[in-house]
Amino acid sequence: MPRHSENKRFRAAGPGRQAKVFAGFFLGLALALCLGWRLFPALMYREIPQPVAFTHASHLELFDCADCHYLREDGSFSGIPGTEDCLQCHDTPRGDSRAEAEYIEKYATGEKKVPWLVHQKQPDNVFFSHAAHDIKSCQKMGCHPEWEEPEDLCGYCHPSVEALDQPAPYKENRLTGYSKSTMKMADCESCHANPDHRDLTAANNACFTCHK
Ligand code: HEC
Ligand code: HEC
Ligand code: HEC
Ligand code: HEC
Ligand code: HEC
Repeated sequence: MPRHSENKRFRAAGPGRQAKVFAGFFLGLALALCLGWRLFPALMYREIPQPVAFTHASHLELFDCADCHYLREDGSFSGIPGTEDCLQCHDTPRGDSRAEAEYIEKYATGEKKVPWLVHQKQPDNVFFSHAAHDIKSCQKMGCHPEWEEPEDLCGYCHPSVEALDQPAPYKENRLTGYSKSTMKMADCESCHANPDHRDLTAANNACFTCHK
């Protein structure tokens, strides 16, 4: 049947019917979008728990950030502390938490390395070093006088870990294998391409600065 006669039939059905058809269409669209909004990320990412239920909160009463995460003399970043750094306290149980008991059984006894999952892990073609992003680089520029201690800057790039009573779940992209919370290029560029930073630092937005 030719199309125009279908159109005629549709129009002949009257404005009430048309309104219903449109309402139905938009309702369906809204439903599909909402479902997609919830379902798509759930399908896209696999949640993997950290191997040890370590919390920052328990340890911040005893330590500063820089006791565990610091820049070495040569500018390399200490990263996540190794099991040998934890043994002074956890060679035997301190408390009666299951998380601690599991940690001791699986890793501390036998001094095994914990395969921590790094939320920020960058793709292999991106170069990043904490040394260039030390608080001193910002202080040289003088535009953020409120950043005084090394840890004042961590929260610019990392989500806050202080208040977590469980480690944040690691979300792995099923297609790429990368972490969902990796810092995106646009976030790097919020500094590197910031016109206020121009000529003040070596922070450069040329592709080869970050891509090797
Ligand atoms: C007792 C040692 C210790 C102290 C003190 C400590 N951390 Fe950690 N940090 C760890 C361990 C172990 C991990 C790995 C487990 C995890 O991700 O929670 C970690 C992971 C992190 C990560 C996650 C990195 C990523 O991309 O996955 C950030 C960010 C971080 N710490 C920031 C801080 C900040 C900020 C402070 C101070 C407020 C701090 N840490 C104090 C031991 C410590
Ligand atoms: C100076 C002592 C000290 C050091 C060093 C230390 N911890 Fe702890 N840890 C504690 C205390 C105190 C608690 C909380 C109370 C308890 O469980 O007895 C704790 C609790 C824990 C727990 C139970 C869950 C939680 O966070 O409350 C785990 C797991 C743990 N620590 C792992 C680690 C790891 C991994 C390291 C090394 C990166 C480490 N600890 C270094 C003192 C220490
Ligand atoms: C300018 C952004 C930026 C700042 C500021 C920053 N980080 Fe990171 N951090 C990153 C990126 C990006 C990675 C992932 C590096 C990679 O995969 O090569 C990372 C990785 C880490 C890791 C995991 C290390 C590992 O061995 O893989 C820890 C722990 C960490 N950062 C803690 C900190 C702490 C503590 C501070 C504050 C003193 C801090 N970061 C400041 C961007 C930043
Ligand atoms: C908070 C602002 C800020 C953010 C966010 C930031 N950078 Fe930087 N970056 C700087 C500054 C400032 C410098 C220059 C340091 C200096 O002059 O000592 C720099 C320098 C660098 C350098 C060294 C350049 C050189 O030639 O010495 C690299 C590589 C780099 N950044 C990569 C990254 C990547 C990758 C990201 C995102 C994952 C990132 N940066 C996010 C501020 C930032
Ligand atoms: C300040 C650091 C920085 C600079 C400068 C930079 N990139 Fe990136 N780029 C990143 C980071 C970090 C990622 C990985 C995270 C992500 O996927 O956004 C990335 C990812 C990419 C990707 C993978 C696709 C994507 O967006 O996920 C392409 C393509 C890319 N960059 C091209 C470029 C080109 C071309 C330039 C120069 C015009 C450039 N980048 C400059 C940090 C940078």
